Amino acid sequence: MSKRKLAILISGGGSNMLALLDSMGADHPAEPVLVLSNDPQAAGLARAAARGIPVAAVDHRPFGGDRAAFEAALSAPIAASGADLICLAGFMRVLTEGFVSPWDGRMLNIHPSLLPKYKGLHTHARALAAGDTDHGCTVHGVTPLLDDGPILGQARLRVAAGDTPDTLAARVLKLEHQLYPAVLRRFAAGDETPVFLDAQD
Ligand code: GRF
Repeated sequence: MSKRKLAILISGGGSNMLALLDSMGADHPAEPVLVLSNDPQAAGLARAAARGIPVAAVDHRPFGGDRAAFEAALSAPIAASGADLICLAGFMRVLTEGFVSPWDGRMLNIHPSLLPKYKGLHTHARALAAGDTDHGCTVHGVTPLLDDGPILGQARLRVAAGDTPDTLAARVLKLEHQLYPAVLRRFAAGDETPVFLDAQD
């Protein structure tokens, strides 16, 4: 079976992108063909380039509110790369149905909460404010509804006494770096059985 060709979309440092890259060894059912950002200054671009991965950036700002035009520009490097699978990894732009639908079943995202709880932003502060004892992250298939697609994996931890949004985010991010590679390996091999991880700490 030929390898899946993976494009990873980022907006910032790309720590999840690095975890995915580092997980894709010779035996992996996917290979990275592009790291793409909406921010030409995203630190993750240099980190990917240092690993020999083709990179590109399409600055969303000149497009203003014209999401369709931005997404058409974003699609060009993806098409040129030959990618047949997309991982959103810290990608902070909302994608319209026009972009998402052709990638239905072929685009994943990682979200820092135990979906369906806390879709959207500020997930760690919201979990703390709710007094949740458990929290974590979710990898899901991307659909036109934000943070709403089929769950492909979750990693769970216990909220610690004294946790702040920052300390909780840091602990969840470590779980993200375990969960996303585990889900990608399984998904790229054609297995959509969800991955569930429980932190021991
Ligand atoms: C992470 O918390 C991830 O869950 C969210 O973006 C944050 C930064 O990710 N989607 P990264 O370090 O850029 O991968």
